[in-house]
Amino acid sequence: MYKYNDFDEKFVRERVAQFRGQVERRIDGSLTEDEFKPLRLMNGLYLQLHAYMLRVAVPYGTLNSKQMDMLAHLAETYDKGYGHFTTRQNIQYNWPELRDVPDMLSDLADVEMHAIQTSGNTIRNVTADHFAGAAADEVADPRPVAELLRQWSTDHPEFQFLPRKFKLAVTGAAADRAVIKAHDIGIRILERDGVRGYEVLVGGGLGRTPMIGKVLHDFLPEADLLPFIEATVSVWNRLGRRDNKYKARIKITVHEHGIDEIRRLVDERFAEIRPTFNGVDQDILRTIEAQFAAPEFKSANTDGFEAARLANPAFRSWTDTNLTAHRADGYAIVSISIKKHGDTPGDATADQMRVMADLARKYGHDELRISHEQNVILPHVHKSNLMDIYQILRVAGLATANIGLVSDIIACPGMDYCALATARSIPIAQQIATRFDELKLEHDIGELKIKISGCINACGHHHVGHIGILGLDRAGVENYQITLGGDHTETAAVGERAGPGFSADDIVPAIERLVVGYMDLRDNDDETFIQTYRRLGAAPFKDILYPKEKADAA
Ligand code: HEM
Ligand code: SF4
Repeated sequence: MYKYNDFDEKFVRERVAQFRGQVERRIDGSLTEDEFKPLRLMNGLYLQLHAYMLRVAVPYGTLNSKQMDMLAHLAETYDKGYGHFTTRQNIQYNWPELRDVPDMLSDLADVEMHAIQTSGNTIRNVTADHFAGAAADEVADPRPVAELLRQWSTDHPEFQFLPRKFKLAVTGAAADRAVIKAHDIGIRILERDGVRGYEVLVGGGLGRTPMIGKVLHDFLPEADLLPFIEATVSVWNRLGRRDNKYKARIKITVHEHGIDEIRRLVDERFAEIRPTFNGVDQDILRTIEAQFAAPEFKSANTDGFEAARLANPAFRSWTDTNLTAHRADGYAIVSISIKKHGDTPGDATADQMRVMADLARKYGHDELRISHEQNVILPHVHKSNLMDIYQILRVAGLATANIGLVSDIIACPGMDYCALATARSIPIAQQIATRFDELKLEHDIGELKIKISGCINACGHHHVGHIGILGLDRAGVENYQITLGGDHTETAAVGERAGPGFSADDIVPAIERLVVGYMDLRDNDDETFIQTYRRLGAAPFKDILYPKEKADAA
C-alpha cells in the first residue's frame, strides 16, 4: 500500500489549513456562496438538496483498517452515523455541517486521505479493479500504475481547469472489473510475448450521451504511459467544447473529430513531450510497485472450511456467492455485501465499517477495498478463517449472500439527496430487493445486474446494467424507463430502451414480470439473463414488459 512521503503529508496539511480559512470567511460572511463555491468544490464539498455533501476519495479503492476506522469516526462524529460508498470508489457523507468540514479533512489527513479533486473539472479519483493484487486471473496489479497517475494528476497545473471532469480507470486483468470502457480513459495492462504494455481506450462514458470507449493504442510500451496519457489529456484540453457543458466530455471530442484524427493529434503531441520525460516516472513507478508487494501468504490446511461448507447450508450459500478465486493457494477474496435486502445500496454504518476494519486487521492482511459496485472487499483471506469471518459478518448484518444477484443493485442517491435528481432511486432499489427476497428466487435467477439512476447523469450506471432503470420527471410525476442488455464488463454494451416508462407504483411489478419471464425464456438454469437477452434479442422481453400493447397489436 502506498505510504505518504513528507511532500504528500505537507501538501495535504497545507490544503486543509487553506480550506479552514476559506470556511471561516464563508461563515463570517466575508465570502458569498458564489465566491465560496469554486473553493469548496476543490475540496470535494458539494451543496446538495438538504445539506452539504463531502466526497472523499479512496484511491483505486484501497484502504487499510486504520483508514476505514477513520471513515467510521467521521460518519459518527460529523454525520448521521453512516456513509455512502459510490461507483467511483469514493465515500460520500450527506449531512456534514460546514463548520465541521475542515476538521473532517484534518482527521482524514491523519490517515493519509483527502477530498482533493473529487469534484471540479479535473482528473478525478483514479479507480481500479477492486480485486487488484489478489485475483487469480490477473496479469499485473493495476494499483501502482493508478498511484503513478494519481501523483501525476494531483494538482497538475495544466489540468486544473479542463473542459469537464475526467475519469481514469485501470485494470490488470482480461476480465474487466473496473468498467474501463465507460471511462474517459481506460487502461488495461497486457502481456504479449512476455512483454508488458498497455491497451489504452478513450472516450467512454455514461451520462446523457452514453458511449463505449474506443482503442487509442492497442499496445503502448510501459515507459510511454505517462507522456501518452498527458498527450491525450492535453489534446482534449485544447479541443474540448468549453462552449457547451453537455458537449465537453472527451467522448464528444472523440465522436466529433473521429478516433483516427484524435490518435494523430495525440501522437503529434506525444512526440513533442516524450523527450521531457527522462525516466524519473519509471523510477517512481518501481518505488511504488515495491510498496504494493503482496503480503506473505501462509500455508495452512482448508479441511475445516470444506467441512463447514458441507455442514452449514447458509455458510455454503454465502461462500458460493460472495467468494472469488485468489491467486494464492488456500486463499479467497471475500466480497462483503452492503446490500442487505431493504437497506440503502452502498450505505454502511460506522459500526459496520469498524467490523470490516477489524476483520481486515485480524484476518485480512490489513487490506480492504471498495468496489465500483458499492460493496466492500477483503482481498486476502485464508479459507480456514472464513467461518469466523462469516459469523462476525452475520451479527453485523453484513453476511447477505447476494453478490452479483438481483438484489446487488447499484443505485445513485436520487431524490433522497441529489439536487439534480428527477426521481427517487433508493426506495426503488429497496423495494426490488425486498420483493425478490420474499419470492425466494434470487439464487435461482442467478447473475443479474440491475442499476438505477435518478436522472440522466447516470451515476447509478444504468446504461451498463443488464436491466437499467432511469428515473425521470414527467410533468411532476416520477416515471421510470427501463433499458435492457447493458453490460459493464470487457464485453461492455449500452442497454437499449425497452419502451415507455412505468410509474413509481408499476416499476417494481414490471421488473418482477421481466425477471420471472426471463426464467421461462432461458435455455437452461445456467444461461444468465444477459446471455438469454443476447440469444433472443429484445422482442420477447418487451412482450413481457408490455403485454397489453402486444394484445392490442394482435
Ligand atoms: C449526490 C451527489 C452527486 C452529484 C451532484 C452528481 C453529479 C453528477 C453529474 C452532473 C454527472 C454527469 C456528468 C456528465 O455527464 O458530464 C454525474 C455522473 C456520474 N456520477 Fe455523479 N453525482 C452525484 C453522486 C454520485 C454517486 C453517489 C455516484 C455513485 C453511485 C456517482 C457516480 C457518477 C458516475 C459513475 C457518473 C457517470 C459519469 C460518466 O460516465 O462520465 N455520482 N454525476
Ligand atoms: S444520476 Fe442524477 S440523481 Fe443520481 S446522483 Fe447522479 S446526478 Fe444525482
